[in-house]
Amino acid sequence: MELNDGSSLANMQVIADAELPNYEDQVRRLTAGCSVTVRGEIKPSGGRGQTTEMHATEITVHGWADPESYPLQKKRHSLEKLREWAHLRPRTNTLGAVMRVRNRICRSIHDFFQEDGFLYIQTPIITASDCEGAGEMFRVTTLDPGQAPRTPSGAVDYTQDFFDQPTYLTVSGQLEGEIYATALGKIYTFGPTFRAENSHTSRHLAEFWMVEPEVAFYELADNMQLAECFLKRIVGDVLADCAADLQFFQERINDTVQATLQTIVDTSFHRLSYTDAIEILVQAGEKFEYPIAWGTDLQAEHERYLTEKYFQAPVILYDYPAQIKPFYMKMNHDDDASAGPTVRAMDVLLPQVGEIIGGSQREDRLDVLTARMNEQGLRPEDYWWYLDLRKYGTVPHAGFGLGLERMVQAVTGMANIRDVIPFPRTPGSAEF
Ligand code: 4AD
Ligand code: MG
Repeated sequence: MELNDGSSLANMQVIADAELPNYEDQVRRLTAGCSVTVRGEIKPSGGRGQTTEMHATEITVHGWADPESYPLQKKRHSLEKLREWAHLRPRTNTLGAVMRVRNRICRSIHDFFQEDGFLYIQTPIITASDCEGAGEMFRVTTLDPGQAPRTPSGAVDYTQDFFDQPTYLTVSGQLEGEIYATALGKIYTFGPTFRAENSHTSRHLAEFWMVEPEVAFYELADNMQLAECFLKRIVGDVLADCAADLQFFQERINDTVQATLQTIVDTSFHRLSYTDAIEILVQAGEKFEYPIAWGTDLQAEHERYLTEKYFQAPVILYDYPAQIKPFYMKMNHDDDASAGPTVRAMDVLLPQVGEIIGGSQREDRLDVLTARMNEQGLRPEDYWWYLDLRKYGTVPHAGFGLGLERMVQAVTGMANIRDVIPFPRTPGSAEF
């Protein structure tokens, strides 16, 4: 009998003797998916690929799994099919390995920051502000959509809602993180994040987990250094502790995984400005699906060209056009104004995965920040507390966000982000 308790990929071989009192009635009828408790003796094994086996003296059957209807038969199922059984898929080798690696990554995240004196700060999930200014927020309300109170002009009257104002699920804990960083120095947040963007890609979820460090007195170069050390630490820990699971991913899921991980650990990340990256892409002579020019956002194909073909290593791009980045990023004084104003943004790109980290130095000048808000159609008075950080003891500071699921994808080589989170939320899908 092959027994698995979820602690590793390897099964325990159990030898069940016909002498067992319940052999005929029960043990002989066990099939895939049943649950048992086995008592017995662990002995050295002559079997291939195992050093020990168990000789059972007692087998208690807890639950049967009707072999006619149990979906997870011994054959391989597609990952798409397994998503329809999100309640059973953690029993498969693939999802088990993913969840063990995901857990190891989470531990590394906390270890990395805790060992360096960062405070773990819990920022709110319900918020009234839109950090990324992209308007991709899920509304939180207790009003009945059919019978919402109205203002004289006919709009929904949110002053009568639960919080007396419109509220949403957070897209980022950064703004609140800045409050704590500028008070206490080094902080990080790690929690669920929500985006109501209608993206049907293999890299986007409507609910994902984000880690956001924020550090007072950091400038952009410090931020890049922190990001690189952070990624190297996570990958190093997984390489050290999840060897068997990684070998499984290498052999069964994606044969570039080990090489990618080794590259992350061994090579210094290339740092180059957005403007230089555009230059490389324009000169590349590649047929990109999305045309590339200064001022446009990079698409996955461009990120992959840079990381997989041109540099064959992780890349940190910085100094992006102000027009494609949020209000809170620090403005550069561009001497060469030919291309347009830029901000102290940075994105870390990995081979295969593309953007894994987005961050920036923050605008710490009250007047510049207020002007940027107005430019982007945000009302400064809605962010009065954020502006107060620049009014009272303003300080240079910087931070970034790492998408946990993209990190799990990078480490496991799993192609679709839906397969690296226990219960994926995507447009049209929230069944489990
Ligand atoms: O680049 P983003 O939008 O940056 C921020 O939210 C900043 N406020 C972070 C900061 O500076 N504190 O998101 C950061 C990272 C991305 O690089 C990506 O890894 C991940 O979050 N991410 C997503 N992951 C899964 N599904 C989505 N829809 C994601 N959107 C962003
Ligand atoms: Mg980003």
